[in-house]
Amino acid sequence: MQHKKVTTVGLKEMKKRGEKITVLTSYDYSTARALDKVGIDVLLVGDSLGMVLLGYDSTIPVTMEDMIIHTKAVSRGTKNALIVADMPFMSYHVSESESVRNAGRFLQEAGANAVKLEGGREIANKIQAINAAGIPVMGHIGLTPQSVNKLGGYKVQGKDEATARLILNNALALQDAGVFAIVLECVPAPLAKKVTERLEVPTIGIGAGPSCDGQVLVIHDLLGLYPDAAPKFAKRYASLYTLIEEAVGAYKTEVKEGIFPGPEHSFGMDENEIGKLY
Ligand code: KIV
Repeated sequence: MQHKKVTTVGLKEMKKRGEKITVLTSYDYSTARALDKVGIDVLLVGDSLGMVLLGYDSTIPVTMEDMIIHTKAVSRGTKNALIVADMPFMSYHVSESESVRNAGRFLQEAGANAVKLEGGREIANKIQAINAAGIPVMGHIGLTPQSVNKLGGYKVQGKDEATARLILNNALALQDAGVFAIVLECVPAPLAKKVTERLEVPTIGIGAGPSCDGQVLVIHDLLGLYPDAAPKFAKRYASLYTLIEEAVGAYKTEVKEGIFPGPEHSFGMDENEIGKLY
């Protein structure tokens, strides 16, 4: 199937047509190639890479340099998907000018098409400034992992009227600030439905039920790259961790027993030539 380059404008048209948007996280060249080939609409270079690739216990230690390296790798493997790079903790909090400069690096140095920022009304000025520089911005509200210390853990957000209203108002404020889409993370499905109906820009849900305009998953959850259970909202489509254990176990046995490498994995040479060495 022939795929076309996905654009931020195209995503808004998909919402109008009622066509669901597919988003997956991607952090490296070869995975990006596979996701792009399948026709995933958006590859999100999420700062979740801090947890799933770098082994931190939150996304807070992730730096601009970490994000730039991985975004570059994803760009090299992507032809058609829209590439969105997460702006890491503290890269858009200090001032508008620093936020614009950091956002610009993702497009200029790393080949991203857009950036994603966590937060609501309180970062609307940063979003406007980044947008004014011609850099499309995706919003992210609900559970915002960079604020885990303030939220007191990774919990569902917006379960009562007051907090649900805050999320709805933040979504509207982000839309006014010019975002082209909004990630809704870990919010009750009825709230995500209401927000989705109220917005003109698409919502992309993760743990936000089926009514969002699109869905995003962390690729490690989808592929089962962990031995531990995935979060409730994530569906496992494969169990690659088990496959890795089996494959590596087979390699270990074959090396120990002298089975690998066999003749088909080895290079020969003229007997006369080797004979001259003695
Ligand atoms: O960092 C990330 O992977 C994300 C998604 C979970 C939306 O922000």
